Amino acid sequence: MPNSGQSKSKDNAAVVQAADPAAIEQAGRLLRDGALVAFPTETVYGLGADATNGQAVARIFEAKGRPHFNPLIVHAHDAQAAACYGVFNESAQSLAEAFWPGPLTLVVARRDGSPISELATGGLNTVALRVPDHPIAQAVLRAADRPLAAPSANRSGHVSATRADHVAADLGARIAMIIDGGGTRHGVESTIVALAGDQPRLLRLGAVTVDAIEAVVGERLLRGTDATETPQSPGQLASHYAPRADLRLDATHVRPGEARLMFGSEAPANGERSFNLSESGDLVEAAANLFAALRILDATGVKCIAVSPIPQVGLGEAINDRLRRAAAPRS
Ligand code: TXA
Ligand code: MG
Repeated sequence: MPNSGQSKSKDNAAVVQAADPAAIEQAGRLLRDGALVAFPTETVYGLGADATNGQAVARIFEAKGRPHFNPLIVHAHDAQAAACYGVFNESAQSLAEAFWPGPLTLVVARRDGSPISELATGGLNTVALRVPDHPIAQAVLRAADRPLAAPSANRSGHVSATRADHVAADLGARIAMIIDGGGTRHGVESTIVALAGDQPRLLRLGAVTVDAIEAVVGERLLRGTDATETPQSPGQLASHYAPRADLRLDATHVRPGEARLMFGSEAPANGERSFNLSESGDLVEAAANLFAALRILDATGVKCIAVSPIPQVGLGEAINDRLRRAAAPRS
């Protein structure tokens, strides 16, 4: 890898050296335009997108080839910025003061009117927030002037990337830019603690130890195995937003009394009771609209939402996964 300047082959992202201030400015512009930029943090390389832009966030899932819309960690440049997106209880406040900037992610209640896209939070009413302790991550956040959703910069199912050339091998052909800041310090992801319930709960082990966290909150963290509370892990159907209405999938026509969730060039039906995820058949646009569309149609009070077929390719796989979960019977 060269020491300065850019290396770019025909189909691949520019790998730029972090020492170049113009590169950081360019990264900021690309992110504000909705493009994906990979950058180092103190844990692993992150695949960043503007967390307030649903289509930019959708491109993360597309680039990673993720078959599910799991919620993403939103990175902010300081605790004050993070407080614009989430509501911090006393324990969350203490943990932020003790460990930020640093490799601890706090899952807290989403703030009302928060600009974070629903796709970044997986349609949940909580948000995962982290302030990274890495000069390049900090510089990128400031240049972008936006909160950044950033999962690890690797293809789904591959190991997390801890060097720029790992990112390039996995995602080089799919993203706009990779900022090379050398190897990452921790090499494992941030620890995740949820503070949205009565008691703090450990959601993921990571770079900050459980002992250190317990010393700050003054109590033991609940673990996945504790039966004292409903599990909050994001894979759990119960924790996801589920519309009150039933969903009828792969519907080719609408029945009387149903609302309609469409995709592609279909004739618009029954006015405000229909929503087209993307008239042009663009799956990125459809993914960005998905959670809002479900809420809007549900709010009309219909008993059932007829969902048009969505192609099971690319992001369509994750959209269909989410729709199947929303359609599943609930207790
Ligand atoms: O070290 C890290 O945290 C790296 C670097 C790049 O910062 N980022 C990272 O982000 O690992 P990500 O988006 O891959 O983390 C996603 C995980 C989810 O699988 C889930 O466990 C948790 O964060 N998560 C996110 N939002 C959540 C929420 N609202 N409720 C519960 N868990 C959530
Ligand atoms: Mg990962």
